Amino acid sequence: MRPLIGTSWKMHFTATEAAAYLDALRPLVAGLTDRDLFVLPPFPAIFVARDRLAGSNVAWGAQDVHPDDWGAHTGDVSAPMLADLGCTYLEVGHSERRRYHGETPDLIAAKVGAVLRWGMTPILCVGEAERRGPEAALATVVPDLEHCLELVPAGSIAAVVIAYEPVWAIGEHATPAAPDEIRAVHQGLHAWLDRRGPTGAEVRVIYGGSVEESIAPLVLGQPGVDGLFVGRRALDPVAFAAIARVPVPDPADGPFGTAVS
Ligand code: PGA
Repeated sequence: MRPLIGTSWKMHFTATEAAAYLDALRPLVAGLTDRDLFVLPPFPAIFVARDRLAGSNVAWGAQDVHPDDWGAHTGDVSAPMLADLGCTYLEVGHSERRRYHGETPDLIAAKVGAVLRWGMTPILCVGEAERRGPEAALATVVPDLEHCLELVPAGSIAAVVIAYEPVWAIGEHATPAAPDEIRAVHQGLHAWLDRRGPTGAEVRVIYGGSVEESIAPLVLGQPGVDGLFVGRRALDPVAFAAIARVPVPDPADGPFGTAVS
């Protein structure tokens, strides 16, 4: 599977700042052809990404979407609007949306449906609130996934990306999950996806939560980790480029870094 490495800027950068960021990033990652890259700016800067990244190896998208296509939804943005801006990836169900906007699995499922209807790729974020080990994590995350993916027919599951983002590992003062924890959860998610439908084996499961340069190779080297989703550290385009350039492990070499936890 081609690794998928990207960032959500969350609520950072004006449109003007976005232009400067993307102009800095583009040459730093040019020529990376063995992986997929993306940036998710805030809504007002998406048109800048379209203009600055067109024809490059970096895709763009959005951090949220309304499940309806049109209507009286003040302040909301719909999938057709984002498709028109050339978005490839739409993030859905991030823990900050769940916590601060009360998003429920029903709403998230409807958003996933809208993204797929408009031919884009949902990046569905899931993760447990407290650190109680991989088994407990899977016991929370799998039922949530079942709910959030309930509108996705078994044969279409490959069109979805899952982002495993333990809530306790996200944000200021947090630390990333240990590589062996990440591996165990990702392998559990892949096992569930394999059972979910004929194309479940094609679903990429990427890791997010305090990713930075020093741990990126180790995390990406874990079996079952198909990419990285970067927050704070990627607010510096040089740091994001360094993470984006991380060596892609060759499965023939076996897992590396498993001794470190
Ligand atoms: P962080 O954010 O890298 O700043 O921890 C990750 C995320 O929320 O996706």
